[in-house]
Amino acid sequence: MKAPSESLKMPTRLSSPEQLESLRKDILSRRDSKRPIITVCAGTGCQTYGAGDVYQDIVQEVKKQGLETKLEVKATGSTDSARRA
Ligand code: FES
Repeated sequence: MKAPSESLKMPTRLSSPEQLESLRKDILSRRDSKRPIITVCAGTGCQTYGAGDVYQDIVQEVKKQGLETKLEVKATGSTDSARRA
């Protein structure tokens, strides 16, 4: 699997729904559909409520159960919908 920044054709700013759809397809094509991703928000608000500990606990449990090759754990930023809430 390619690193996210490797040859990702992401424009500096999306200016049309077609560009968004193209970016979505590009991102999905890079994912391994057989390897689910657990995402944990690492935005400022969630960090305040202990997201860092939750992330670390999930990573440790995944390792403990030997699931590193079967799923991925990622820390993400806050989503737009969460920021609007
Ligand atoms: S900081 Fe996590 S959803 Fe906003």
